[in-house]
Amino acid sequence: MSNLITRGVRTPGDTRIVRFVDIRTGTEQLAEPLSAEDQTVQSMPDASPTKWHLAHTTWFFETFVLRPHAPDYRVFDPTYEYLFNSYYEAVGPRHPRPQRGMLTRPGLAEVMAYRRHVTDAMVTLLDSGNNAIDPLVELGLHHEQQHQELILMDAKHLLSLNPLKPAYRSAVPASDAVATPLAWRDFEGGLVEIGHDGPGFTFDNEGPRHRVWLEPFALASRPMNCGEYLAFIEDGGYRRPEFWLSAGWDCVNQRGWTAPLYWEHDGGAWKVFTLSGLQPLDPVAPVCHVSGFEAAAFAKWAGKRLPREAEWETGASAVQGAGTVWEWTASPYVAYPGYREPEGAIGEYNGKFMANQMVLRGGCSATPSGHVRPTYRNFFPPDARWMFGGIRLAEDLR
Ligand SMILES: [Fe+2]
Repeated sequence: MSNLITRGVRTPGDTRIVRFVDIRTGTEQLAEPLSAEDQTVQSMPDASPTKWHLAHTTWFFETFVLRPHAPDYRVFDPTYEYLFNSYYEAVGPRHPRPQRGMLTRPGLAEVMAYRRHVTDAMVTLLDSGNNAIDPLVELGLHHEQQHQELILMDAKHLLSLNPLKPAYRSAVPASDAVATPLAWRDFEGGLVEIGHDGPGFTFDNEGPRHRVWLEPFALASRPMNCGEYLAFIEDGGYRRPEFWLSAGWDCVNQRGWTAPLYWEHDGGAWKVFTLSGLQPLDPVAPVCHVSGFEAAAFAKWAGKRLPREAEWETGASAVQGAGTVWEWTASPYVAYPGYREPEGAIGEYNGKFMANQMVLRGGCSATPSGHVRPTYRNFFPPDARWMFGGIRLAEDLR
């Protein structure tokens, strides 16, 4: 907690300061159940250690807000620019992503001191009444919230590799809910508009708002559940190439996929590794940790297809369950018509990743509030499984 906050300062900057400190503190609370060792290890090249997330989100404010806009700011440690730059070419060279787990130094205590240093400097800057920084601060806060979800994704992957199957948090009592019957919502299609327009923060890739032509379609009323996905497995889904895209079938064979990530069959029953450790499979829970390839294969097996992102955005308000798991779409992650990357290094935030990835819509239980909105475009390569990705089906109506 910042000294300024604890001193109870009340100025016009307060609302911005409280929001800033709340989000920074929220990140640190997510890390608390993890030991220093948990926070240091990198479980795979795509995942990052929690300690790196804690430092990188801090680096973002130091690099893009404090250095250019706080004349008296003292850089905490000049070597951190190299260590904690993620992918910004305009900022300079950086430590290779697959080797983030090699950073035993700086230690966790130094990274937490870095966080306090930057948080305090940011609070001082916000308290100075400088409103010109607001758009950058808002971007930095949404960036930090994206990393909050990444912390949970990456920690889950790490803990899943421990044979003791440790829990990040205690288990929620098992639900005795029954599956909501799957229904279909019909949409006429036609000329629709999608994308962000108007007030409120969004990432640059959510706009401009533009027109899209849709043929009549239907969306499933909810995401598919584990019981339904189990039927695909039991029908030989992972042994039958006719359901799979070619690159997906290669993954099945080369990586030995037989079920979603974190599913285990112990000879008697299916279990699923969760943030609360290994749990019995809940057939009613939305299926999660499937790749885009698995989602597409399931849809083909079911005689349906995945929604396009314009269909998803058009129908999102009429269906249930949006926000429980990210929902794979059949749409490649590309720029909307009229998209322009922002000027400067920050233009690298989204635009340069618009190749070889698919869009996911919605949000999940690990997504911070404010990140679940109809225009939000998440994106991952179609073979990625460690995000909380699930399946909603669509179909053509003619
Ligand atoms: Fe980042």
